[in-house]
Amino acid sequence: MTYAKVTGKLPGPRSRQLLEEWHRCEADVTGYQAQIVWDKAEGCIVTDVDGNTYIDWTSGVLVTNVGHSHPRMIRAVQESVTRLINNYESPTPYRVEAAKALMAVMPRHFGKCFFLSTGAEATEAALRLMKRKTGRYEILSFEGAFHGRTMGSASVGGLAGPKKGYGPAVPGILRAAYPNPYRDEMGFCSDGPGFRKYFRYLEDLVNANSTGSLAGVIVEPYQGAGGFIFPPAGWLKRLEEWAHARGMLFTLDEVQSLYGRTGRMFAMDHESLQPDVVTLGKAIGCGIPVSAVVATDEVFSCLSKGELSSTLGGNPVSSSVVPVILEIMKEEQLVENSAAMGAYMKKRLVEIAARSPYLGDVRGMGLVMGLEFVKDKATKEPAKELIKPFIDACACHGLLVGSVGMYGNVIRVAPPLVITREIADESLACMEKALATLHL
Ligand SMILES: Cc1ncc(COP(=O)(O)O)c(C=O)c1O
Repeated sequence: MTYAKVTGKLPGPRSRQLLEEWHRCEADVTGYQAQIVWDKAEGCIVTDVDGNTYIDWTSGVLVTNVGHSHPRMIRAVQESVTRLINNYESPTPYRVEAAKALMAVMPRHFGKCFFLSTGAEATEAALRLMKRKTGRYEILSFEGAFHGRTMGSASVGGLAGPKKGYGPAVPGILRAAYPNPYRDEMGFCSDGPGFRKYFRYLEDLVNANSTGSLAGVIVEPYQGAGGFIFPPAGWLKRLEEWAHARGMLFTLDEVQSLYGRTGRMFAMDHESLQPDVVTLGKAIGCGIPVSAVVATDEVFSCLSKGELSSTLGGNPVSSSVVPVILEIMKEEQLVENSAAMGAYMKKRLVEIAARSPYLGDVRGMGLVMGLEFVKDKATKEPAKELIKPFIDACACHGLLVGSVGMYGNVIRVAPPLVITREIADESLACMEKALATLHL
C-alpha cells in the first residue's frame, strides 16, 4: 500500500487560494512550512484540501504523539463538550481525573501538578515557583534554549528569534553554553562523566555574573528549537547535582520531550533525574490545548491561595483528554514503539546521510531526531539555504517535515509515535528522493 500520494504541483489550486486568503487577513509571521493547507489527518497521514496525502514527520510540532485525531480522543472531546465547556477555579470530574492520571505516571518524588494551557505558561509558572520558593531572583538558563515566547520564557531562552528587538529582557538571567557533541569546539562533551571542563566554565560564569541570588536552573533535556541538540550522556545528571549542591532548584522543560518521544515515558527517565519542577505541554493534550507544571510538595507549598491561576487552565474539555491519552499510550505501547521505530529509522537515516554530501549529522533518540545540513562535512558550515528547498521537495514527494536550529539548518524527524515499519520505510524513501534534488 502507498500512503503518500501527491498529484500535480504544490500548492494545489484550493491550497493556493486558501494560502492567499490567509495571508490577506492574518499576519504572515510564522516560520516556513510546506506550502499546503491541511484538511484532515489520521494517525501519521495528512490529507490536504486538494486531496493529496502525506506522511507526517512533524506531529504538528511534536504534539500528536498518539497519532492525529485518535478516535478515543475525539469521543472524549465530544462527550465533554456537550456536557460542560468552561468553568473557573473549581474542580470538575474531568479535571480531577486528569490530575489523578497525570500524577500516577509522574516519577514518585513529585507531589502535585497544576494545569495551564500552553508551554510558555508552564515555563512562567516554573520561574515563579523557583523564585518564590527560594526567595531569590536569578535564573540560570542556556544559549540555544527555547522555553516559549512570553516575556519571561523568551528571556530565559537563548535564541535570537523570540528576543531580538524586544529588549530589555527580564533581568537576572545568566545564560551558559549547552554542550553540543557535533560542534564541540570547547571540548565540553569529551570528558564525561565528570565533565570537569564544563563545570569549571560554569563556576567561572556564575562567579563572574551572579549577584549571589541564584534561584534555579531551567533546562531542556535536549534542545528542541535550538536544533535537536542532545547533550552527552550524564551531563544533565551532573547539572542537577551541581544545582542542588548550590541550593538551587532544578527545572526540566519536558514540554516537547514527554510521553515517549525519546523512547522513554519522560526524558528524565534516561538518567533518573529528580527535578524539583517539570514543565509539560504539547503531547499532554495531543492537540487539545493543555499544559502543566509539576513539582514536589515542598516546592508547591511556597504558594498560597490565589497565587497561580489561569482562565483556561484545567478547563473541562482539555482535561477530558488527559487520562485518555495516557490510556492510549499504555494500551498501544507507544513508548516501546517509539524506542523500536526510532532505532530502526535512525539506522536507516545514518545510511542515507553517508550517501549525501549535505547531511552532516543524524542524532536523536526514540522518535525525535535531527538532520543537520552542512555545506561541507569537514568544515560543518551550516547550509541553511538547503532547508526551504528540502521542505518543499519532501512535500512534493509526500512527506511533511519542519525545520529548527540556532543556524536554521536542522530538519526535524518526529512522526507520531504510532508510525509502523511500512509507513517508516515509505517515508524514508520519500525523504531520500527529496534529498537527491538538492544542490548548492
Ligand atoms: C521545550 C519547549 N518549551 C516550551 C515551549 C513553548 O510551548 P508553547 O508554544 O505551547 O507555548 C516549546 C514550544 O515549542 C518547547 O519546545
